[in-house]
Order: sequence, then C-alpha cells, then structure tokens
Amino acid sequence: MEESIRRLQQEIVEFEIQAQADLEAFRLKYTVRKGLIAALFGQLKSVDPADKPRIGQLLNQLKQTADAKLTEAEERLASTESSSSSNKGIDLTLPGRRYFTGSEHPVQKVLGEMKQIFSAMGFGIATGPELELDSYNFDMLNFPPDHPARDMQDTFFVTSGNPGSDVLLRTHTSPVQVRVMLDQKPPIRVICPGKVYRNEAISSRSYCVFHQLEGLYIDKKVSFADLKATIYSFAKQMFGTDVKLRFRPSFFPFTEPSAEVDVTCYLCGGKGCKVCKKSGWLEIMGCGMVHPNVMRNCGIDPEEWSGYAFGMGVDRTVLLRYKIDDIRLLFENDLRMLRQFGA
Ligand code: PHE
Repeated sequence: MEESIRRLQQEIVEFEIQAQADLEAFRLKYTVRKGLIAALFGQLKSVDPADKPRIGQLLNQLKQTADAKLTEAEERLASTESSSSSNKGIDLTLPGRRYFTGSEHPVQKVLGEMKQIFSAMGFGIATGPELELDSYNFDMLNFPPDHPARDMQDTFFVTSGNPGSDVLLRTHTSPVQVRVMLDQKPPIRVICPGKVYRNEAISSRSYCVFHQLEGLYIDKKVSFADLKATIYSFAKQMFGTDVKLRFRPSFFPFTEPSAEVDVTCYLCGGKGCKVCKKSGWLEIMGCGMVHPNVMRNCGIDPEEWSGYAFGMGVDRTVLLRYKIDDIRLLFENDLRMLRQFGA
C-alpha cells in the first residue's frame, strides 16, 4: 500500500500539464470520485489498524499534492489564455483611429439663417411631404386645369390619369400653405422650408431638385404694406443693411396681386457684374396677397381674413454666399466639397 502511494505521488509530480486537455486528463485520472486517489482511500479499510494513521496521513498528503497541482495548472492556463487572446491582433504602436466629424451642408447653413430671421419675427415652421397630391400642388392653389405648369415637362408625375388624386413630386412649397390652412385656424404665421422638384434641363445653374422657403401670414387686415415690410426686414438681415428692394408686378395663380422681388446685387453693390448680368439686381422671390379662391378652397373666409405669401429659392443664395459656381455640387455629396464647410 505504502509503495502504491509513493508510486502515485511520483507519477502525479511528474505529470506535465501544458494544455486544457492535459488538465482534464489529470483530473479524470487522479482527483475525481472514481479516480486513483479515491480508490486508494477505499483500500484504507483493510489496512492494519496500527498502520492506519500513518497510511491515512500519506494518502492525505497525496491528495493535497494532486489538488494543489490541479489548482496551479488551472490558474496558469486561464491566465495565459486570456492574455494571449487579448493581445491577439493588437499592435500598440499603431496610430489611433481618426474619427471624422460631419459638418452642416451649406444649404442647411443658409436655411438655418433664414429660419432664424423669420422665427424672430414670430413665424412658426411647417413641413409637408415631397410626394404630393396634384390637387394640393395645383387645384387648391387655383391653377386652371390647363395651366402649363402641370405639363409633364415641368412636373415629375408618379402616377397619372387620375386628375385630383395623382401623385407627383411637389414643384414648389406652396402646397404646404394649403395643408396648413386646412389644418389650422387663422391667425396663421408660418414658413415652410423644403425640397422641390422640376423636370428641367440640368446645367450649372439649374437642377431637377432645389430648395424653397415659403412664407404664409393670414390675419385680419393684412396688407401688401405688411408683406413689403416683412420682406424688407428679412432682406436687410440676410443680405446686408445697405440692400435695396424692387417689387415687379408678376403673376401667380394663387396670389393677387403678385410680385417678384429683386435685391440690389450684393456682390457688386448694384453697380453691375457678371453674376447679376450687369443689371445690378438679383431676383430672390415671388410673393403676393393670398388669392380669395385659395382661402375659400381651404375653408377660410376671405371677407374676414386676408394674408400674404412668398416663396424664395434658397440654392442661388447658397451659391453666391459661398462662391460655388455649379448648383450640381450642392447635391452630389462629394466629401471633398462638403469638408470645406466644417465648423
Ligand atoms: N410657389 C411660387 C414658385 O414656386 C413662389 C411663390 C410662393 C409665389 C408664394 C407667390 C407666393 O414660383
């Protein structure tokens, strides 16, 4: 018995545990309940009572040796494994990863400025869908059924052949006026910024999508003088205090009277340059008094209420402000161009 214990002790000490598989083999051979050590403990019963304490002690030592070896091997393997996996693939000498922060698109910068000016004057912001019903884009805005603006050449129709419920890409932001008037009771004072679409020949000066900012004010006794004062105040803040305005009579089906507004060219100060084609003026918007038919279409009594509306293009101002010479650059999302507008 003593001899067997000593042999086992020797074997255990010499057992090499280098991997998880060795560890498992060691455990199964020696330390489990049906292992060799437990078997020797089982034989203790038949040992001469006089030898029992000594043999018992030897067996306990054997068990301690095996347990200690097992614990030591477990810890050693666990620590080498975790350190090797956490080091795997990491080169601490590599430079850090660069994070690119985005920047506001130039169109959004200019739109943001415009929104700020109008919100300071008490205008709220309304939005509407870019996929619009032709009734909102045209009929409700008092366009006659045969108006040329409905022509396929100008409008991107998504469905066709169901007058009134056809779906199209809105050609201006004015349908948002209709939605707001149907939705809210006067007094109403909102601006509606957004994208609009027209099927036009693409060039450095015109694109099939661009941005407009619409304004609508409906209250009691709103006059053309109110419209002029609002536009004037806006233009001074947006284009500079020296700016002069010119209102030219014009026509829109949804306003009467209507006008187009020019500002003195803020590049040459009105002297005449390439951008203003030597005229000294730049056209910035269309405007007018909301047509009584439009009010009636939207359930607002034109005898009781009156209002003005205006709609301006945003992209032209962006091009001039940042000296960009091709409108297409605003829509291509070329990072080389966008990065120039970082904060
Ligand atoms: N919707 C018109 C356009 O796109 C602009 C406009 C808006 C004119 C509001 C008058 C009033 O040309």
